[in-house]
Amino acid sequence: MSFEDSIGQALKLMPRHREAASRRASSLGLDDLIDEARAQGQLDSGALDLLLMGTRYRARALRSLKDFLKGKPLKPREIEDLLVLIFASLLSRDKMPAPVQLNTFVEIAAKSFGPHLKGLVNAWGRQTLRDRENFERERREQPTEWLPLAWRERWAKHPALLDEAARRGFERPEAGVSAFGKDLEFARRPFSEWQERRPFQAMDPGSWDLVRWIDGELQGIPTPNFLDACAAPGGKFIALALLRSRHGGLKHALGTDSKFPRLTRLKENLATWQAELPSDIQTQVLAWGEDLVPESIGSKTWDLVLADLPCSGSGTLHTRPDLLDRNPFDRLETLQKIQASILAALGELRPRHLFVSICSVDPIEIEFVSRCLKRDPSFKSWDRAHSKAEPREGLTAWRL
Ligand SMILES: C[S@@+](CC[C@H](N)C(=O)[O-])C[C@H]1O[C@@H](n2cnc3c(N)ncnc32)[C@H](O)[C@@H]1O
Repeated sequence: MSFEDSIGQALKLMPRHREAASRRASSLGLDDLIDEARAQGQLDSGALDLLLMGTRYRARALRSLKDFLKGKPLKPREIEDLLVLIFASLLSRDKMPAPVQLNTFVEIAAKSFGPHLKGLVNAWGRQTLRDRENFERERREQPTEWLPLAWRERWAKHPALLDEAARRGFERPEAGVSAFGKDLEFARRPFSEWQERRPFQAMDPGSWDLVRWIDGELQGIPTPNFLDACAAPGGKFIALALLRSRHGGLKHALGTDSKFPRLTRLKENLATWQAELPSDIQTQVLAWGEDLVPESIGSKTWDLVLADLPCSGSGTLHTRPDLLDRNPFDRLETLQKIQASILAALGELRPRHLFVSICSVDPIEIEFVSRCLKRDPSFKSWDRAHSKAEPREGLTAWRL
């Protein structure tokens, strides 16, 4: 696919284009959109890279754009997406000469928004290029400055955490997709394998660390019945089912989730793993803490329950840079009520082994779950990261 096509694909998934397209497109998370686009063959590795870098650098690009425009409005608004992508591309692509990149963007601007915008796009690109080294230095030396105010305020009393989140959030990852395949070898692999190979599950290294840790904690302990209460879209469910099949004599696994569309994604993911998993794998829509728990689930002895709770996702900035576009802590109060009621409902099951996790590094969020569980976390993926070259998601987990 040409650079021009990649830009076109990335543009469609940028915020202003999504707002203009539909309410649904603007409300979905970037990971869901990427999954959809990939399934429809509308995303190549170049487009994915541009999209993620554009999302990572967006807040900084917009700040610079504001100075550049000196109060003049942008028309149409969607051209903002293109200008953000230019910024990200010029600052992060080192294999393609900058003039080639800029020319392509200028041509796309003319085609998509009209030839009168060529001058503006060109001038913006040139200014970005002139300041490129300063931006790079700023990103390396003061990454927290690139975080939106909401994050900086929230973690003002935790400078080390803020710094770590910013460093990870704005680092350019190596090309490819972290994933595991049939052999359960976890590695960063070329994007094309994600598109073509089956079965193949994309997963953040932090999540992989978590499932390996759970499997290790259960070493030698049989867990024939496994329930994943918040399972969709299913990365951890599938990985843990595979690991437990090998080490824990897994016979029956049930994945539940409160949201029907997400459960559909779980089913699609499971379908690609059918041959590898035990035959008794089921899924069910169930909102723990809200719905009546069916007798068939409530009366069962569950050997292993995983509750990967809905949370702010503050530890996933590296893979979910769209969190920067909103304040992920806005809904915390509502989320905490949900977390508490899920945990209360799961407690009723009296599972033999309960593991609880959140994809968050926020001290207040961690403390809240700890209070619900009456114990401190026993796992943090950041602590376990071996290499700085491979940033991991910030996952926190408890074993009960
Ligand atoms: C962190 S995500 C789970 C990710 C999943 N474990 C994975 O690895 O792909 C949390 C999930 O909890 C679901 N959820 C939210 N409230 C729930 C509830 N009361 N009962 C069950 N699932 C719920 C959400 O729909 C969401 O899919």
